[in-house]
Amino acid sequence: MQMNPSEIASFLNELCDLAQIETMSWFRKSVDIENKLNGGFDPVTQADKAAEQVIRDRILERFSNHGVLGEEYGSINPDAQYQWIIDPIDGTRAFISGLPTWGTLIGLYKAGKPYAGIMHQPFTDERYVCDSEASVLVYKDEVLVLETSQVQNLSEAILMTTTPALFGKDEFERYNRVEAACKLPRYGTDCYAYCLLASGHVDLVIEAGLNAYDIAALIPIVERAGGVFTNWQGESASGGGQVLVAANHELHAAALEMLSC
Ligand code: IPD
Ligand code: CA
Ligand code: CA
Repeated sequence: MQMNPSEIASFLNELCDLAQIETMSWFRKSVDIENKLNGGFDPVTQADKAAEQVIRDRILERFSNHGVLGEEYGSINPDAQYQWIIDPIDGTRAFISGLPTWGTLIGLYKAGKPYAGIMHQPFTDERYVCDSEASVLVYKDEVLVLETSQVQNLSEAILMTTTPALFGKDEFERYNRVEAACKLPRYGTDCYAYCLLASGHVDLVIEAGLNAYDIAALIPIVERAGGVFTNWQGESASGGGQVLVAANHELHAAALEMLSC
């Protein structure tokens, strides 16, 4: 792939422009909702499907030998060195509730490792982008270089998770130990939480039961801003599962000790 960092950012933005047309056609409007889960509620809408389709089509038009993995339409070319990993709407529960805390996620893995990514919130038009070298927020023609916070103690930390209801019993107990030690927990934030951490407003994000497409775009955004992104054992989280994200190594070590024992 012959793309320099600014070309990567430009292509990620182009993909999000295409997806934005689809998602904004249905946001805060009457939209068809299907439930993907027996015995629970995991919604998907026509907006999720349409957005993923336009992103996939454009990627494969430009890079026919690259891999694509998307939440709604699965995988193609799974052995390719470059893998584009798509969650067309991360936070469909927020989307169908009219909350602007969802986002379109497009990550690029190179040889299995997170390389670049974008989180786009189409209603506010905030774009959190990692072009493989730096992480920035592009908003209203301004470009802000992202940097995580220096908060090192749990007692001063703001913690985010989408909802503790998604944790299993043992996970819930471990998570609760960390939450009890933090200054402030906030819920319901999906991909926004990781971008607010990359921006220095939030210090910790803890989740479980994730898939690669929930975090592929977010790992490089957080890491290039100075954050630490692992699973609950302190290992790579690039495949999904339990996720611990911290603003710096000191805070990560403090939370990891509570989650891993
Ligand atoms: C959800 C979000 C959320 C996470 C859930 C996911 P979706 O994705 O990533 O933050 O906690 O486990 O299902 O379904 O809205 O794309
Ligand atoms: Ca998701
Ligand atoms: Ca999704």
